[in-house]
Amino acid sequence: MSRKLFELGFDRNQPQTNRIALKVDSQVPTWMSGSFIRNGPGMFYVGKQRLNHWFDGVGMLHKFEFDQGKVNYESQLLDCSAARAATNEDRLTYSEFATDPCWGLFGRMRSMFQHGPTDSAKVNLAKIGEQYFALGETTMQIEFDIDTLESIGQYNFNQPKFGTSSTAHPHIVGQEAYNMITKYGPVNHYQIRKMDKDATKCASVKTLFPSYMHSFGMSERYYVIAESPFTVQSLNLIAANRPFIKNFKWNKKRGTRIWVIDQKSNQVVFKQEIQPFFFFHFVNTFDTESGVTFDMVTYPDAEVIQSYYLENLGNPDTSIPGGVLKRFDCNFSAGEVNISQLSNVLMELPHIDYDRYNAKSDYRYIYTLSLTNNNSSFYDQIAKIDINTNKSIFWNQEGCFPGEPVFVPSPQSKAEDDGILVTLVLDTTNESSFLLLLDASSMQEITKIIAPDPIMIGFHGQYFKN
Ligand code: CO
Repeated sequence: MSRKLFELGFDRNQPQTNRIALKVDSQVPTWMSGSFIRNGPGMFYVGKQRLNHWFDGVGMLHKFEFDQGKVNYESQLLDCSAARAATNEDRLTYSEFATDPCWGLFGRMRSMFQHGPTDSAKVNLAKIGEQYFALGETTMQIEFDIDTLESIGQYNFNQPKFGTSSTAHPHIVGQEAYNMITKYGPVNHYQIRKMDKDATKCASVKTLFPSYMHSFGMSERYYVIAESPFTVQSLNLIAANRPFIKNFKWNKKRGTRIWVIDQKSNQVVFKQEIQPFFFFHFVNTFDTESGVTFDMVTYPDAEVIQSYYLENLGNPDTSIPGGVLKRFDCNFSAGEVNISQLSNVLMELPHIDYDRYNAKSDYRYIYTLSLTNNNSSFYDQIAKIDINTNKSIFWNQEGCFPGEPVFVPSPQSKAEDDGILVTLVLDTTNESSFLLLLDASSMQEITKIIAPDPIMIGFHGQYFKN
């Protein structure tokens, strides 16, 4: 990527910003009353160490608060043990995704046993019941105060050690949340758990070599677990002297395994090994007459993780692989999974109107980051995919790198795309960032709200209505 994008987007530490009123025009909808919060890395330099990977950065929250046409902004490092160690001790003391503390040969074991993996919940956000959480890829959820952004602390489950890894994408059903946990051990398990005080176990499947898992599917009747052949010998996670993700290997000899679990019986009702592919994101999962269907953004292998190393991102000649949207129709009685491609647009960070359309078979629109061309060094446009017509419309602007688009329905919204897309854009031409509001129906610009500083490239955002 360009030097400027790398320097502004990744290769630095982001200053925190106290609450400030942003300059707005009259186009900001007065009905918007709530907060758009974006999670992601805010710190890639800890002491003398530069972290290795986009998924390593110490987490930071950015909040844009909408109130009767006015917008306030503030940002804060997510207050957690990993961030406190990084800022107070000026060194990395927790194992990040692809960076370990520099502690020599036995340091990794010391780090795993004394501190464990990072609690920097830098990936996603969720409102569960009346509580707001920052979420990462472990079971350590950081609760925060939506008004002040201050951390309330790590959520205390009644049982402290029910699993190590979790997906960053729980499914929310009413007041409850469900997540998929990976429990490493002599026997490894994927467990679906209700994320209540007891972390109640709903279902469990065994696996010999667990995969890297970022999301899972949940329809009205089923949970869907997909295990790509990017797997780990779990003993290596403790014994091997290398960062978490470097223990995972692409196994060319096997495919991707699918488990479908009935939510009533909590039993596996369908299991199949299909063609190998890698993925981060389930887009949607819904019941059909013959079984269950899930849509996913897929890659032929796990090379995309490689491309997110800062070393590769900083190389002016490298481009980024885009994911391909595929549909997997599971037919239980036939014992088949029918796979079809839903769009030619290369994408990542897909978003739907989750509240109204998750698990709904008639959903039609996906809003996503995409690439303007095959040589794009990073995601440089937003696409709206109509999976009924296979037509797409785009927003892009020279030198601009948008983040995940988040759908906010209009007050009387009836049509699926009647609402606004909110996305945080890094503008390398003007060396600034702006919050972009698009009409989700036409993808036309409504307004741009300029932030006081350029904001680093992050992961997921959520809009929380007041
Ligand atoms: Co994600």
